[in-house]
Amino acid sequence: MATAPLRVLCLAGSARSGALSVLLRDAAGRIANELGAETSMLDLRALKLPLYDGDHEAAHGVPAGARQLRDTIAAHDALLMVTPEYNGFPTPLVINAFDWLSRLPAAEGTLSGLAVTANKPVALLSSSPGAAGGLRAMNFLRQYLQMAFGMLVVPRQHAVGHANAAFDEHGALKDEKVGQAVHSVVQALLHVAGALRNPG
Ligand SMILES: Cc1cc2nc3c(=O)[nH]c(=O)nc-3n(C[C@H](O)[C@H](O)[C@H](O)COP(=O)(O)O)c2cc1C
Repeated sequence: MATAPLRVLCLAGSARSGALSVLLRDAAGRIANELGAETSMLDLRALKLPLYDGDHEAAHGVPAGARQLRDTIAAHDALLMVTPEYNGFPTPLVINAFDWLSRLPAAEGTLSGLAVTANKPVALLSSSPGAAGGLRAMNFLRQYLQMAFGMLVVPRQHAVGHANAAFDEHGALKDEKVGQAVHSVVQALLHVAGALRNPG
């Protein structure tokens, strides 16, 4: 019996038009498709999450966008996340969305936000016009997702430096070595996700 394709949810830490992280997310997503996976792109801005505020939570509960994020993650075998770097750190768009996710309690018939992320494989990429490619932010994101969310962050990662010059007019990575590095990250993610789906 043929196995169903792995489902990979692809996220970028920026939603601005022309975002380098979105270009890299989409390039990595196409690689995942070439390797046989199904991909979905989620725009974190479309979740319309307010800035986390305990008073807002007490008055209104956790916003619907956090449940949408939880349900979308639950419907996928793995995540692929591309982070930009703001002052050495991942962007508020990502941290705010995941902070809200962490506040979702289990309810009848639904898992908590943290139960959905636990043991879910995720691979990381970063991008920046700078030479280091957002590596500092990516390493913080690794720690955040591992330590707080129990995610299985695959060891292989890649920071795309000088990302403002890395893509051609079709959004493809121009440098073969960079393309290979991104390919190896996606491959590692699918390897882990496949092994978790079919243990032994
Ligand atoms: C508030 C802010 C802080 C930034 N800090 C860094 C930084 O620490 N390191 C870096 O490489 N680039 C930094 N940048 C530049 C971003 O890498 C650049 O704007 C990038 O294009 C943002 O990602 P995006 O294209 O996916 O939106 C910063 C940009 C902003 C707006």
